[in-house]
Amino acid sequence: MASQELISKLEATIENIADFPIPGIQFKDISSIFLDPKLYEEVIEDLVKFSKGKVDAVCGIESRGYLFGIAIAVALEVPFILIRKKGKLPPPIISEKYDLEYGSAEIETREGQIKKGQRILIHDDLLATGGTTEAAAKLVKKQGAEVVQFSFLIGLKDLKGEEKLKKFNAEIYHTLE
Ligand code: PRP
Ligand code: MG
Repeated sequence: MASQELISKLEATIENIADFPIPGIQFKDISSIFLDPKLYEEVIEDLVKFSKGKVDAVCGIESRGYLFGIAIAVALEVPFILIRKKGKLPPPIISEKYDLEYGSAEIETREGQIKKGQRILIHDDLLATGGTTEAAAKLVKKQGAEVVQFSFLIGLKDLKGEEKLKKFNAEIYHTLE
């Protein structure tokens, strides 16, 4: 869906750093996108096009999911809800635990911000194993809302994150692979 021009610009801008933060991981540094406001605007336009008219609210995942998520929600003129890492939001909160490669993690939202029956877009910058996004979707469903879309700037194919998201029967979009 993204134009070849946008894909090429992003490929030239995003830096790939080998063995960070641990050996074997290829880190994608998106920070250079924010040095180029025109490119940032084009990314937002691309992500907004996917969701226009289809969602009632956007949930963004801390922290890199906020960098694009809020701009998407503002452009769509819908509420933006923070999904945060454990211990950052004051009560009352709803939380969801999930497994990491070693140990576990937990994410939270403030109770009452997601409304029953809302059509939700979950946005994050990157889909890798899908563990974080899967937990976010469970958190949304727990609150009686429907996950209708997932969007990412980057969807890494090799880690099969999309497999984990299939059960939600939502549309999935990523600007880049
Ligand atoms: C990264 C990335 C996604 C998640 C993807 O976030 O921004 O949120 O990992 O991984 P997964 O699909 O394997 O779950 P990270 O936890 O590094 O934190 P950050 O966004 O705060 O930098
Ligand atoms: Mg993240």
